[in-house]
Amino acid sequence: MPTRRVLVTGAAGQLGGVIRELFGDGGDDVTALTRVELDLTEHDAVLRAVRDAQPNLMVNCAAYNQVDAAEDDATSALAVNAFSVRSLARAASDVGATFVHYSTDFVFDGRGAVPYTEENQPSPQSVYGASKLLGEWFAADVPRAYVLRVESLFGGRPAKSSVDRISDAILDGREVPVFIDRTVSPSYVQDVAGATRTLVDAEAPPGLYHCVNSGYGTWWELAEEIGRQLGVTPKLKPVAVETVKLRAPRPKYCALSNTKLTDAGFTMPMWQDALGRYLKVRTDGRPRT
Ligand SMILES: NC(=O)c1ccc[n+]([C@@H]2O[C@H](COP(=O)([O-])OP(=O)(O)OC[C@H]3O[C@@H](n4cnc5c(N)ncnc54)[C@H](OP(=O)(O)O)[C@@H]3O)[C@@H](O)[C@H]2O)c1
Repeated sequence: MPTRRVLVTGAAGQLGGVIRELFGDGGDDVTALTRVELDLTEHDAVLRAVRDAQPNLMVNCAAYNQVDAAEDDATSALAVNAFSVRSLARAASDVGATFVHYSTDFVFDGRGAVPYTEENQPSPQSVYGASKLLGEWFAADVPRAYVLRVESLFGGRPAKSSVDRISDAILDGREVPVFIDRTVSPSYVQDVAGATRTLVDAEAPPGLYHCVNSGYGTWWELAEEIGRQLGVTPKLKPVAVETVKLRAPRPKYCALSNTKLTDAGFTMPMWQDALGRYLKVRTDGRPRT
């Protein structure tokens, strides 16, 4: 079988680095582009880069993820999260590539009480959430597109996630403020990358998939679990979402159901298991940045 050509964009991000490694280690011919090498907001440059690379598969890990800043800079958020996805989607269609794109739990309003499925109606409450929803729609224009909604990513490089912030504080013996009333299904980048490859390799039906570690918990429960796994009693400061003045509203309940992904052939490990694997990697001395 000829070697698969994979084009990874947003390759310097938390997820992008892991995607590039996983597909490269699996024997694919990977071209990984950072923002310096290809600014995705430049439509013609995107078309040119894709034509040059002639990929069979494109995996877009780029995003404008500054949730609060987006409220005052919708233009930038839309340029990266929506219109650059339109450019990539057009380019993917031109060369007949399969397209993978990532979205977010922030497309929901967080007023649910049971894990959201792909069938639930999105209702973003922030500019960031709205820009990501538009990106989902543009991505879906490609005949073979996988749109994977992930949430509270951790385990990538740079190690800048909330899990890293909480772990560092616990290990340093510092008090750490955590939300008691935000429920999430966190996502380990290694598991997201594994699910991505399985879906593509298995030629699973294209479409929208929730792709988070199984189960859910409040940030308080996550922090307690991090402390338990580190063997340290954490000093946690309970914080209610309403009491924090954030520019963009945060959805309170964002557990996502993985059932569709499981049915497609990939079972995401429980979040406690994912945390355990990541904390072990951190403890074993992998560089943090
Ligand atoms: N992080 C989370 O908790 C989270 C939650 C839900 C969904 N997601 C989604 O998951 C995916 C991966 O997120 P992540 O956390 O890995 O993101 P990340 O670490 O913030 O990386 C995003 C990358 O996109 C690049 N980028 C931004 N604008 C670009 C442009 N105009 N052209 C080319 N590249 C550009 C950035 O480049 P620079 O390094 O130069 O800025 C950065 O390397 C994204 O779709 C994100 O929306 C993430």
